[in-house]
Amino acid sequence: MGKTTLLVKPSNEKISVNKGSNLLDVLNQSNIYVEGACGGRGTCGKCKVKVLRGEVAPSESDLKKITKEEIELGYRLACRVEINDDLTIEVPGQAKEDSRKSDISSTVGLEAVTSFKKEYVELPQPVLKDQIGDFERIKRHVPEGENFTISLNALRKLPGVLRSSKFKITYTSYKNRIIDVEEGDTTGKLYGIAFDIGTTTIVGTLLDMVTGKALAVSSTGNPQRSYGADVISRITFSSEKDGLKILREKVLQGMNEICKELCKKAGISSQNIYHITTVGNTTMHHLFLGVDPTYLARSPYIPTFQEAQTLTAAEAGLEANPDACVYMVPNIAGYVGADTVGVVLDSHLEKSSQIKLAIDIGTNGEVLLGSKDKLLACSTAAGPAFEGAQIKYGMRAAEGAIERVKITTDCEIATIGNKPAVGICGSGLLDAVAQLVKAGIIDSRGRILPPDEIEGISPQLAARIIAGENGYDFILATEEESGINSPVVLTQKDVREVQLAKGAIYAGIKVMEKNLGITDDDLAEIILAGAFGSYIDKESAVTIGLIPAIDLEKIKSIGNAAGRGSQMALLSDTEKERANVISRQVEYIELSTNQDFQQEFMFAMNFPSPQ
Ligand code: FES
Repeated sequence: MGKTTLLVKPSNEKISVNKGSNLLDVLNQSNIYVEGACGGRGTCGKCKVKVLRGEVAPSESDLKKITKEEIELGYRLACRVEINDDLTIEVPGQAKEDSRKSDISSTVGLEAVTSFKKEYVELPQPVLKDQIGDFERIKRHVPEGENFTISLNALRKLPGVLRSSKFKITYTSYKNRIIDVEEGDTTGKLYGIAFDIGTTTIVGTLLDMVTGKALAVSSTGNPQRSYGADVISRITFSSEKDGLKILREKVLQGMNEICKELCKKAGISSQNIYHITTVGNTTMHHLFLGVDPTYLARSPYIPTFQEAQTLTAAEAGLEANPDACVYMVPNIAGYVGADTVGVVLDSHLEKSSQIKLAIDIGTNGEVLLGSKDKLLACSTAAGPAFEGAQIKYGMRAAEGAIERVKITTDCEIATIGNKPAVGICGSGLLDAVAQLVKAGIIDSRGRILPPDEIEGISPQLAARIIAGENGYDFILATEEESGINSPVVLTQKDVREVQLAKGAIYAGIKVMEKNLGITDDDLAEIILAGAFGSYIDKESAVTIGLIPAIDLEKIKSIGNAAGRGSQMALLSDTEKERANVISRQVEYIELSTNQDFQQEFMFAMNFPSPQ
């Protein structure tokens, strides 16, 4: 098998590849992220790259998923390209990931109260009259020492560390087990990382476990994304040959990148990371452990484990002290995971005397409703529409994504980083649909109307409504305003996807309200959790009927609550105990077979009449 060269722009990365390799696989293996919502099946149209040099005939999928103009410009679906000769490609949006999540202000600031301890001791040096063993010497010296055990790694380090430090050492213990020994006084070097393993993004926060302070935050796209945008496609991929192994390796790759970056940012050694906590949906937790998630996707949707799991960093495959304790926050059910427990930890819903609604809109839409008397949870399977997966020009919140839309006599857009528009992210999508509903361009049933059916429409807006594949489409950014050689368009199908997603969330809320015997008027507060919740316009969310129409003052965005829940578990044994109680206390409502849900869903698909 001969070799050939792939040159990737704009990063100018040169990759030597075997002839016959699949382009998407090569990019994945080289850690160059290209969206692959369908897992390389050629059906999502998301893995577009531009061929700058080299001959690549358009495939059948290209002809279906890419416009004629784009094909002429050299765009191809990476998953359909076989590399047989030298090739130069451009990966559009090989721009920076959304840096908005690496924000240290989203940290908890708790006092650290854990079972991790670092003690500096000066031991008497052995002599012939005192031949007690090295480990027993520590035990004898420390008041609570008689209960101590020691890990094999620490035991192996012990004789060398004791003698090179003249028996002045620091030992690190966790629940009476010594997990590390170091020369001299290192008592201030006790660190932990709290992870939020999202289906789309992984966020890690480095915390000082002595002071409780956050030292650094880092995030990366979940490298599993190239194998599918949502949990179902990941579960499907996991059953393919080596699929589970690949997905585990990918999530670890992302987490270890974060570990490295956090240590570099804070100037610490990874060997001083002794505690790691994780939240994530139940599928992410299964894949992190390499546990087969198949049965999560088959009725009756049974997870392999729900309770908190504890293992070492070495067992988990994480680059930290090998004996660091990895604590996985418990899951609630197959589709309501530890990330939802994290939201409750952070928002204290289980202690609230008022009825509150919390929605975590990520790749799934988990909804919590209730108070200290009864707290319900459901997963609305909203799908990753708000992350752009099934949206024609959908993309994550990265440079060039349309994030705000305003309809006046024309369409005004704002993009992330003020760059030419290359696509639309969740907050922009929500705004676009809400604004078009308000302007009467989209009717209550979700149809983009032709200009002649819209009373008093301006000529500028009329020119933006064009015939599309499934009715009419709306041009958000013209070819001149965009950075992709074609207009950025909201299609009729995109509007349907938004209807499905928002309809599922709203119907879930209605089913839970019915279960509690309450109405929207009883809601003291609506909490929007998750990165998406931080950026959406509350008014737009109410306009399209994503959330109940209550006073906007009562709607609060709290950012990455799941991630803060992970930090709380890291810094406090009491919070870990709370997490266990919450996972048992929250009542899970299964919507897939719920009759009320089907009815509410049909109704919730429509848009409320503009006020
Ligand atoms: S079309 Fe290539 S990954 Fe979906």
